[in-house]
Amino acid sequence: MPDMPDKPITTSLTRTPAWRALTTHQRTWHDRSLRDLFASDPQRYHRFSLEACGLLLDYSKNLIVPETLDLLLALANERRLQDQIRDLLAGKRVNTTEKRAAWHSALRAGESAPREVRKALAAMRKLAAALRNGTIHGASGNAITDVVSLGIGGSVLGPALAAAACAPDAGSPRVHFIHTPGESLHHLLAALDAATTLFIVQSKSFSTQETLLNAQAARAWLQASGVSDHGTHFAAVTAQAAAAQAFGVPAERIFPIWDWVGGRYSLWSAVGLPAMIAMGSDAFDELLAGAADMDAHFAGAPLEKNMPVLLGLIGLWHANFFAMASRAVIPYQPGLGLLPAWLQQLEMESLGKSVSRRGKALRQDTGPVLWGSAGTEGQHAYFQLLHQGTRPVPVDFITSCQPRAARREASPLGGRCATSPLGGKQVPLGGAADTNNTHAVMLSNCFAQSALLMCGVSTAQTEQTLLQQGNTAREAARLAPHQALPGNRPSNTLLLPVLDPRSLGALLALYEHRTFVQSAIWDINAFDQWGVEHGKHLAGGLLPEFTSTAPSASHDASTDGLVNYSKLHNRRKS
Ligand code: F6P
Repeated sequence: MPDMPDKPITTSLTRTPAWRALTTHQRTWHDRSLRDLFASDPQRYHRFSLEACGLLLDYSKNLIVPETLDLLLALANERRLQDQIRDLLAGKRVNTTEKRAAWHSALRAGESAPREVRKALAAMRKLAAALRNGTIHGASGNAITDVVSLGIGGSVLGPALAAAACAPDAGSPRVHFIHTPGESLHHLLAALDAATTLFIVQSKSFSTQETLLNAQAARAWLQASGVSDHGTHFAAVTAQAAAAQAFGVPAERIFPIWDWVGGRYSLWSAVGLPAMIAMGSDAFDELLAGAADMDAHFAGAPLEKNMPVLLGLIGLWHANFFAMASRAVIPYQPGLGLLPAWLQQLEMESLGKSVSRRGKALRQDTGPVLWGSAGTEGQHAYFQLLHQGTRPVPVDFITSCQPRAARREASPLGGRCATSPLGGKQVPLGGAADTNNTHAVMLSNCFAQSALLMCGVSTAQTEQTLLQQGNTAREAARLAPHQALPGNRPSNTLLLPVLDPRSLGALLALYEHRTFVQSAIWDINAFDQWGVEHGKHLAGGLLPEFTSTAPSASHDASTDGLVNYSKLHNRRKS
């Protein structure tokens, strides 16, 4: 395994010349407006947009001028970003607290991938193909019709996102993703046939409480349904093969995940198996190829033309120099609805740190809160705050030039049918014209929102409009301040050619590397997550309190009070 990174960073970020220059430069932004910058530079869009790996990034609506980027790139060079990128992609142990590599790029390196990676991929392809051609049978000899993936966090977010984006139809077998224990699993199982259902337990640690609860409930359901050899109805993806075998998963159905693959970076590993089953192994190979394209771009493009580097630096500029404490990612793209959730784990579990790699308390902010949802819903929920709130929120808009190639089964009516995962009622959809029109509506809303965030609507403009609408001068003056939009709110727009496996792979790798760029400059470890480990441990310690008859009295007064109150009210109900 490659060694530790070369010469670690030793200087405090806020004391570097570039940081000081950026602090001075930021003061010049108090009276700049993006609207004026666009008016004075007709080439601004061309100057600040970049194509790479099939994606177009328009970063012209950010609070930047050429000097801003020069200073940000100087900061990157002071932090030896290129050396750090090289260490990451070479598999050096950049996860310094756990002394591990973060070598997710090796998972998509094709023929150059490590032997164990290629071996695991071959095994995945074999199982996925057999399931898709119906030659995998349950204990009763019936072909598997439903695959249920049981995992949480990085063990579900990536594969569920890839399946939703690249396999929107209910194919065969149908693939379902369950993460939270309880109702959702029971509701799903009520509609499935135990004799034709396969469970994939996705857990790197094979110790995550929620996933084990689901796996135990699945096993009990199989047994209660009379399935004799429940082992043939399980597979597992884990770094703990012995624990999976002890649970009852046959050895030949256990797929490995290595300690140099972080959960939030694991889609490209066997954790992606449910997605491969849903989309097919050729499409999954395209997903890997798209990510590999972005790895090559990240490794080879000069920093000033490097898409992950530009996104990371501009994000840092907003977070550290404009105190923008959150950022939104808003896809206007059917199939990317799960992207904000995947990014929440990627960015907030990677960048939610307050100590440098040398163990020193940081003087500057690090990861902002990441949130978002599909744009169409967001416009009817939180865009008011984005346009007129007191706190500007930088936004990444994501959409595609073409509508997703809809692959619905032809219906008897000749249109395209939406079939429910469980073969429910079929509803004919419109033809290609309907799809293109709907997509044009998506694009126009996406571009309109980013334009308005940037240019705003001045009070004078608003007053003029109100007068033209027939309002009195007094009424127009009264309403104008309420209806004006301040503008000057930054956003990026990422345009995919079409949402397909290759463009999705490039998009997700782009955000993985954007995250690394920020961690490298902030000098934090993007690949551990000690904060969540404590939570898991304490939750495990609290669990026995709920079955004990004695009152809880060994925690803080609030926790003891809440435990005792909930037990009392649970007892009253029962
Ligand atoms: O949230 C903590 C975490 O360890 C994530 O990093 C991980 O993706 C998730 O829990 C699930 O962990 P496992 O795959 O070990 O079940």
